[in-house]
Amino acid sequence: MKDNTIVTHAGNRPFENQGIINPPVYHASTVLSPTMDALLNKGDAKVRYGRRGTPTTFALEDAMTELERAHGTVLAPSGKAAITMTLSALVEPGDHILMTDSAYAPTRSFADTFLKRFGIETEYYDPLIGAGIQNLCRDNTRLIWTESPGSQTFEVQDIPAITAAARNAGIITVMDNTWAGGYFFKPLDHGVDISVQAATKYIVGHSDVMMGTIACNEATFDKVKTGSDTFGICTGPDDVYLTLRGLRTIGARMPAHHRNALQVAEWLQQRPEVTRVMYPALPQDPGHAIWSRDFTGASGLFGFVINTAEQKKIAAFLDDLKLYGMGSSWGGYESLMLPSWPNKNRSATKWDAEGQTMRVHVGLEDVGDLIADLDAGFDRLNAA
Ligand SMILES: Cc1ncc(COP(=O)(O)O)c(C=O)c1O
Repeated sequence: MKDNTIVTHAGNRPFENQGIINPPVYHASTVLSPTMDALLNKGDAKVRYGRRGTPTTFALEDAMTELERAHGTVLAPSGKAAITMTLSALVEPGDHILMTDSAYAPTRSFADTFLKRFGIETEYYDPLIGAGIQNLCRDNTRLIWTESPGSQTFEVQDIPAITAAARNAGIITVMDNTWAGGYFFKPLDHGVDISVQAATKYIVGHSDVMMGTIACNEATFDKVKTGSDTFGICTGPDDVYLTLRGLRTIGARMPAHHRNALQVAEWLQQRPEVTRVMYPALPQDPGHAIWSRDFTGASGLFGFVINTAEQKKIAAFLDDLKLYGMGSSWGGYESLMLPSWPNKNRSATKWDAEGQTMRVHVGLEDVGDLIADLDAGFDRLNAA
């Protein structure tokens, strides 16, 4: 099945539920057994205890497994929890992790604090390293963390080159696949073992739910599932339901984000105040060739650099934007804009910007209105 069919139907079992299309929202802790025999043999039952899953959570897990072309999916209560669960489940004291320098900052901080405390060393690598990653692999390298495009700076990684090197050395690869929403990129088809997503972003799509997904291949699923059970990780049924509801329209939303974002990015490229735009869908972007080879589209999140970092001017630009909210997260139906400081979260590479780096999420508004709002923002910036 193609993705638009998968996201529309996967996980739904209407004829196990009176013909009703969406799964029921099971609020459960205790699950009763009718007899002692059934109690003693509960180990084999799929529904045993609320924390261990219900038909509501199974529906989302199954749908994500199909979308990510995985063996199985583990849910987590946020994207960050999905990241920390994955790392905790797979590494041991004495292990070495290779992590892209462009990783989401809280992923780095988990490695630099919690994992370090347990004797796990994390080494950061240039996101553009490609096959050169093999020179950094050691005997104790257990895992390579990738994120593409990178957080804040949007470098496109050569995932097939990295996973080929990792496979040769018996190293697990994980990708934070949030940018593509599991829709425009298929990590497991490119040799990645585990695709982690902040479903909070594009899967949910409406800025109202926190959710994480960990889609694993056969070799890694049991370890991640056991790790998550050991920690007692579970997700709330209403949030799972809303995540599934968001998923049903991702096939309509993602191409619309792509269309709008490309027009905004092209417009920004022409502005004299903008020194560069970091959006792999632009032919001028350094990651465009790899993006076109591996991705089937681009989401609405990208970066650009303004030729000044003077706070008064940047504030004049941001403060009166009508359609771009200032706040964390992205992937919802609405546009957002934030200044960013990528150098705060770099150690293997340096981010040399000509002025203020910005991160924009282009939503589903009318693109003419979005551009007019930015146009007025640049007028304010120039007058400040
Ligand atoms: C790339 C990326 N991964 C993971 C996360 C974490 O997701 P959550 O906010 O659901 O914990 C974020 C959140 O901003 C993100 O941008």
